[in-house]
Amino acid sequence: MKAVSIEKYGGPEVLIYGDLPKPVVGDGELLIKVFATSVNPVDWKLRKGMLRFLPGQKLPKILGGDISGIVEEAGKDVEEFKTGYEIYGLISAAKGGGYAEYAMAKPHQISLKPKNISFEEAATIPLAALTAYQSLKRLGKLKVGDKILVNGCSGGVGHFAVQIAKAMGANVTGVCSTKNIELAKILGADKVIDYTNENIFSENITYDIFFDAVANQSFWKVKKHLNKNGRYVTTLPSVSILLNLFFNIFSSKKGKMISVKSFPEDLRFLSELIKSDKLRTVIDTAYKLKDSKEAHIHSEAGRVVGKLAISIN
Ligand SMILES: NC(=O)c1ccc[n+]([C@@H]2O[C@H](COP(=O)([O-])OP(=O)(O)OC[C@H]3O[C@@H](n4cnc5c(N)ncnc54)[C@H](OP(=O)(O)O)[C@@H]3O)[C@@H](O)[C@H]2O)c1
Repeated sequence: MKAVSIEKYGGPEVLIYGDLPKPVVGDGELLIKVFATSVNPVDWKLRKGMLRFLPGQKLPKILGGDISGIVEEAGKDVEEFKTGYEIYGLISAAKGGGYAEYAMAKPHQISLKPKNISFEEAATIPLAALTAYQSLKRLGKLKVGDKILVNGCSGGVGHFAVQIAKAMGANVTGVCSTKNIELAKILGADKVIDYTNENIFSENITYDIFFDAVANQSFWKVKKHLNKNGRYVTTLPSVSILLNLFFNIFSSKKGKMISVKSFPEDLRFLSELIKSDKLRTVIDTAYKLKDSKEAHIHSEAGRVVGKLAISIN
């Protein structure tokens, strides 16, 4: 099968487009014929070796956590999914396997693809939208009427966070650069702060949840802009978050970091939002599998609006 893999860490030039053996389905597993995947920043962080300390990091490896496609074969003991089912899911943020014509998945990592979106659209959703949902719901404990800020509201995680928070009844302030203000409003932001012209903390406003999707603010700085019992949720580890683990008990304001997981009930929740047109993906650019190097260069530049898709079959 055609796949994009790495045999060593490095720049985009270490991505190899070539032939690799098709995975063999085991008990409790599914073989997926992959129609599309997407690029997430974790892919190029893995490629560069920035995450080599994580468990299961062996080379060579195929990158890619997101997949959409059809079930080619269901292993023994798999009951929920049959051959031919159209699915999408997050097979693993760190282990990868999605930049290929075939990938292995476990039943809890996938869900039926909503019929009102294409395979390409579906592949851009799981990792980034699950991160947004789990940050807001599981860590942020979002409830109707909460006032939240999404820092980086035009990126992969952020553009889903705005829509999910609105669908859950929050009042949303989005932070982005000038060129993305219109998009943030279309996605449902009640207010937009242009970080290139305004200080995001300039007004005397406090939030119930500050979701730092781009992770460029510290909990210490954000804390005084949180309401009593307010939550700061970030996507990357930082000194302020690590120290906060010790001091959390003394304050009603909590600082937390998300580590996205393939919880099937969360993916099903997202599917319901998609079916009711409350959640959609914005695809900045769709690349072909053989052009994964260009896709990585694009993502690494940090200016992607919404998501980058990779079409496979
Ligand atoms: N811990 C986890 O489980 C987990 C899961 C998913 C993602 N992540 C991490 O979360 C981060 C975001 O991921 P992503 O997929 O959303 O990335 P992304 O799509 O590449 O983010 C690009 C967006 O960031 C915006 N941006 C850049 N600088 C900004 C700034 N100073 N203020 C506000 N917005 C800014 C850009 O908008 P402008 O061009 O308008 O500036 C662009 O739209 C990455 O570091 C990723 O590795 C962690």
